[in-house]
Amino acid sequence: MYFDSHAHYDDERFEEDRESLLESLKESGVDFVVNAAADMSSCHTSLALAEKYSFIYSSIGVHPHDVKDLTEADLEEMKQLAAHKKVVAIGEIGLDYYYDNSPREAQRTWFMKQLLLAKELDLPVIIHSREASQETFDLIVESGVKEGVIHCFSGSYELAKEYVKRGFYIGVGGSLTFKNARKTVEVVEGIGLEHILIETDCPYLTPVPHRGKRNDSSYLKYIVQKIAEIKGVSEDEVARISCQNAKLLFRIG
Ligand code: NI
Repeated sequence: MYFDSHAHYDDERFEEDRESLLESLKESGVDFVVNAAADMSSCHTSLALAEKYSFIYSSIGVHPHDVKDLTEADLEEMKQLAAHKKVVAIGEIGLDYYYDNSPREAQRTWFMKQLLLAKELDLPVIIHSREASQETFDLIVESGVKEGVIHCFSGSYELAKEYVKRGFYIGVGGSLTFKNARKTVEVVEGIGLEHILIETDCPYLTPVPHRGKRNDSSYLKYIVQKIAEIKGVSEDEVARISCQNAKLLFRIG
């Protein structure tokens, strides 16, 4: 009963075997996937996957890497797409000051506009934040948005606590299995299982022992194993509770 709360199955790295892979996920115990959109074109390709497969849901939104060319017409288009019944969140949206692929001013502007869209539509948000922890948090607070997940959380335990206090979930993925994961291990140790979502971010962030290969939701088991080990509970409990958390956040029956 795994719930992959963040995947990119519309990515071109799945071109060759997308259909057979997605059809095999059930056998790997994957019951639900939220496919995250990242630019205007993936809003459409992600939603198409959600229409085709009953266990796939989609978000609508534009990643900070790609906001530099956005227009008000794009925002309007997002709003219309988000009305679809398989759309469960606005995302992935946020700030990325590590790559700076879009000017920071544009990142902040479009992050806020998409946060306000989520608020208007009463949808949770999927947040991407890199090297911009405090500013991401401050803009979320300013927007008034109270539901969402910080995908692939890389901040401090103190910040994780602040997000949890606000009602947000902490997204934990393959990086928890990496050698340098001390900070993320601390976060998983410190916060309750009822605030954690598991995710792959596939095709990226493949967990150990498959690091370097293409990621997919069948590798969620390595993340579940690691969380269970850190928290001293069974893998079943981690899978069950994180699935329940995601169903609550994304309002899936
Ligand atoms: Ni992603």
